[in-house]
Amino acid sequence: MPLHQTLLEWYDQSKREFVFRGVRDPYKIWLSEIMLQQTRTETVVPYFERFTALFPTVEALALAEEEEVLRAWQGLGYYSRARNLHAAAKTVWFDLHGQFPQTVEGLLSLPGVGPYTAAAIASIAFDVPAPAMDGNLTRVFSRIHGVRENVEIPSVRRRLHEIAQSEMPLKRAGDFNQALMDLGATVCTPGTPDCDRCPVQQYCAAYADGDADMLPVKSVKKAPQEEQYAVLLITCKNRILMVQRKENLLKNMWVFPMTETGNEKSFLSRLPEGRYTAPRYLGDGKHVFTHLIWQMKIYHIEIEAEFPCAHGQWVTDAEMDALPKPTAIRAALLHANQLMQDSQIKGGTNA
Ligand code: ADE
Repeated sequence: MPLHQTLLEWYDQSKREFVFRGVRDPYKIWLSEIMLQQTRTETVVPYFERFTALFPTVEALALAEEEEVLRAWQGLGYYSRARNLHAAAKTVWFDLHGQFPQTVEGLLSLPGVGPYTAAAIASIAFDVPAPAMDGNLTRVFSRIHGVRENVEIPSVRRRLHEIAQSEMPLKRAGDFNQALMDLGATVCTPGTPDCDRCPVQQYCAAYADGDADMLPVKSVKKAPQEEQYAVLLITCKNRILMVQRKENLLKNMWVFPMTETGNEKSFLSRLPEGRYTAPRYLGDGKHVFTHLIWQMKIYHIEIEAEFPCAHGQWVTDAEMDALPKPTAIRAALLHANQLMQDSQIKGGTNA
């Protein structure tokens, strides 16, 4: 029996049930695959439900404001995905008459859709026999076919892609890709795979050779770089200063003014002189991105009068809640919420 038949039978019995599985609408399949890039399936589920309630069609998404889209994405991370999603929805709605491209090449022309996502969408939505080569499929096929070279080398990647292509069934391409994803997530896991429970053990070269846990071969990763920041919660009565990021990382998301430690003095020197309290240390925050760690020291400064700030806005508690903010500033946000509540209490008793 071919590998795909055994695996599809296992999938029919054991597949993981998710809200985004079983949908036929290419818009929702595309949306789920963008959300699933770099994000765990359990995390995606509530976002997918909320997002499709807010934007049920590609038209609704194309016509939405970017800020609404970022807000619906808040907490999911990798916010360039949300901006690309919005741009792609506009392309589909305004340039392609609302029709998603049905080929891998066509899908690749949409912002935010790379080879893996194009293959996943084409196979799931349109039954195109294209392998969705992510970490799961790379791991599963390197083990089944006993590929013992570094899978980061382009020629090795190409070979794995050819292997996966040759294993694709003519029908149920999407189910086959998702069966491989499920196998990779639940049985053929990184580290110690559960070979005793594996439905395709008899096809597996690495199992036969006893080295499945050593595959795939990858180069040793460098530790992520650490950056130290002072995060400044600058309040003026019942308002706080937020700034919209213009850097590529977290672009257009709203954060508090941040300055690399060592530069606080230059930042503080730009505040109106003598009319603010000395920075009061509130606590630390930390956020781990893929290649970067932010170590944050959080300070409070109360200032007498609001001052203009490039890309900045003085906001109330409720306005702060409504702005799209990244999870990276979670710790600072908790302190900010507390400060705002305190200022309301004070404001209330003074009034
Ligand atoms: N990861 C990416 N796409 C997925 C899918 N369709 N099912 C499960 N995990 C996934």
